[in-house]
Amino acid sequence: MHGPLISANEIINPIPVVALSASELEEHLDAADAMTKSWVKAQEFTAAFGETLAVPNQAGEIKTILFGYGESQSEALETGAALNKMLPAGAFELSKGFDDPAGIALGFSLTAYRFDAYKKLSAPKARLVVSEQGILEELEPIIAGTRLAKDLINTPANDMGPEELAVAASQLFEDHGGSSKIIMGDVLENEFPLVHAVGNGSDRAPRLIDAIWGKDTDPKITLVGKGVVFDSGGLDVKPAAGMILMKKDMGGAANALGLAAMIMKAKLPMRLRVIIPAVENAISGRSFRPSDIFTSRKGLSVEVANTDAEGRLVLADALALADEESPELIVDMATLTGAARAALGPDVPPYYTDDEDLAEVIAVHSEAVNDPLWRMPLWKPYRKYITSKTADLANINTSGAGFAGSITAALFLQNFVKNAGSWVHLDIYGWTPIEKDFKTHGGEAQAIRALFDMLKTRFG
Ligand code: BES
Ligand code: ZN
Ligand code: ZN
Repeated sequence: MHGPLISANEIINPIPVVALSASELEEHLDAADAMTKSWVKAQEFTAAFGETLAVPNQAGEIKTILFGYGESQSEALETGAALNKMLPAGAFELSKGFDDPAGIALGFSLTAYRFDAYKKLSAPKARLVVSEQGILEELEPIIAGTRLAKDLINTPANDMGPEELAVAASQLFEDHGGSSKIIMGDVLENEFPLVHAVGNGSDRAPRLIDAIWGKDTDPKITLVGKGVVFDSGGLDVKPAAGMILMKKDMGGAANALGLAAMIMKAKLPMRLRVIIPAVENAISGRSFRPSDIFTSRKGLSVEVANTDAEGRLVLADALALADEESPELIVDMATLTGAARAALGPDVPPYYTDDEDLAEVIAVHSEAVNDPLWRMPLWKPYRKYITSKTADLANINTSGAGFAGSITAALFLQNFVKNAGSWVHLDIYGWTPIEKDFKTHGGEAQAIRALFDMLKTRFG
């Protein structure tokens, strides 16, 4: 239930871990018995950051683990990550010298994530005892939400089609006493023309998931997530190198569901709604084409200048629906552009909002929980880049100068949100290419710890 974290009453005699900074080491050894002292010296333990040493008792069993803090205590999530990487299989507990045990436990848990659903053998893991029940309860929603997001992204597209994504969403809401509707077929075609157009090329039918939870009288918060289960590019097909990671193109939906899981598990007092357009951008005789024009749910016509800019199309109709009930806040998350990566790299998603106050609190919470985000501008003069000769809007920058790809995508979406109190758009990557600190390789939960922390403070 808590992943690799366990409560004290689930286990007897976990091995204590003692943290020492380099300057505390001498003092610690002065107080230790002769055997320990010579063992630590013989092993040349210096208490450098992340260094661990098992100290045996007379019987040759591990008595304690020493954990090096270097010159001073490090960021808690990174400390938890270092512990997870260094500890052998077994059960451990933080004994002395650690600040912020909750942060360390979270870092430990995030780092312990493995996607081993398709592997016969999975390696034994270290487990960390958390003796304070309050910490376990505080971390549970965060751990469950991030795991859900990662699992959904990592599941390959052959097992994560529009249907499976819809089932995952319905299941999550049902588990928490919420409800959901799935819109497909003719109704989808009539009411969500862009979702239908993008998903129509696939044998796996497109659909729109509309899930709801909480009390009607509480503030309305709506999450919209791009659910492109695989992005081949469509008729404007991607080259192999650009297609290889495209099972993650439902990373926005996965993160919206991860955040929804956190909110529902923590029972934040809000009327939560999650809207996911779930489609496969595939190639067939039914695929939408470059130069096709569709009238969106909102009434604006859109020229498809490139079938690979499909995310903003499905989001346009989903955002229009979200906007119709004028919620307090709409948050949309999407693996929308390669340009966002060119600007900020895989680990720092840009966010866009015209609400100065919201922009500020997002930055503050992002920093506080070590979940990086960076604001980029909804730069009005660039609106002229997404005009069309034949329709109200084009789905790519048609100016001939291919700049500001993430901003023009955000400006495109902005046309479909008019009534919500506030709107924030996050252009996420949803993937960690190379494991680092508490980030594991593969599907990534991005922005949702920051957003959860923000929502908890603002509405909790
Ligand atoms: N899903 C991609 C964006 C993407 C690519 C995100 C790689 C993360 C990594 C999106 O649908 C897309 O293909 N966007 C195009 C837009 C272009 C055709 C204007 C892009 O960014 O190249
Ligand atoms: Zn695309
Ligand atoms: Zn895409």
